[in-house]
Amino acid sequence: MEPIARDKGTAPVIAIDGPTASGKGTVAQRVAKALGFHYLDSGALYRLVALKAVRQRVAADAATELAALAAGLQPHFNDRVVLDGEDVTDAIRSEDVGVMASRIAVQPQLRAALMDLQRRFRRAPGLVADGRDMGSVVFPDAVLKVYLTASVQARADRRHKQLSDKGFPANMRALLQDLRERDARDSSRAASPLKPAEGAKLLDSSDLPIDTVVKRIVDWHRGMAD
Ligand code: C5P
Repeated sequence: MEPIARDKGTAPVIAIDGPTASGKGTVAQRVAKALGFHYLDSGALYRLVALKAVRQRVAADAATELAALAAGLQPHFNDRVVLDGEDVTDAIRSEDVGVMASRIAVQPQLRAALMDLQRRFRRAPGLVADGRDMGSVVFPDAVLKVYLTASVQARADRRHKQLSDKGFPANMRALLQDLRERDARDSSRAASPLKPAEGAKLLDSSDLPIDTVVKRIVDWHRGMAD
């Protein structure tokens, strides 16, 4: 989907936030499909900036350069993620890029530079947005805010499977440590720290099949469940 300005501010938004590997991405995409809504993977935007930064050797603390990279970002999302004519779908999913994304995401200037781009994804009939601060900062007027979490072990298992399926090397101990470090960084940063938005419904997916998680969110949205 292309970010465009049409219907900005009017279409309903469902915000799904939570820690790394909580299953947000898959859940959010399936909720969007079930409702016929558009979908924003905000983490992909941070990953795209991280990929550019790694390639152009921009340091993780170079706030102004990072904000400039973010401001010039013109990604295309369909089934694949395309940046400057290159299919970077797999490249942005590597662990290196994920770690860089979480390191640069502490920069308020970069976060501000991505704000407009994220809001331009909002259009009729609605948007499901997943990330860390969708309900708290980017779409505070979301009609439904969900904070999706899972135990560190469950998330490490999922991440391990995802990486192995894609042919990336994956080491469980390193994954667990990386998840803990990323959680700590995402939760303790001053700019938009990871925490449930006010009014968010909490959902722990550790022991729930994905179908159940998706159905619960769709039912919440349709007002069919508490
Ligand atoms: O969700 P994903 O793991 O792809 O996000 C990559 C990184 O981008 C996260 O570790 C987080 O630090 C950052 N992020 C963020 N705010 C968002 C989405 C992602 O800070 N809305």
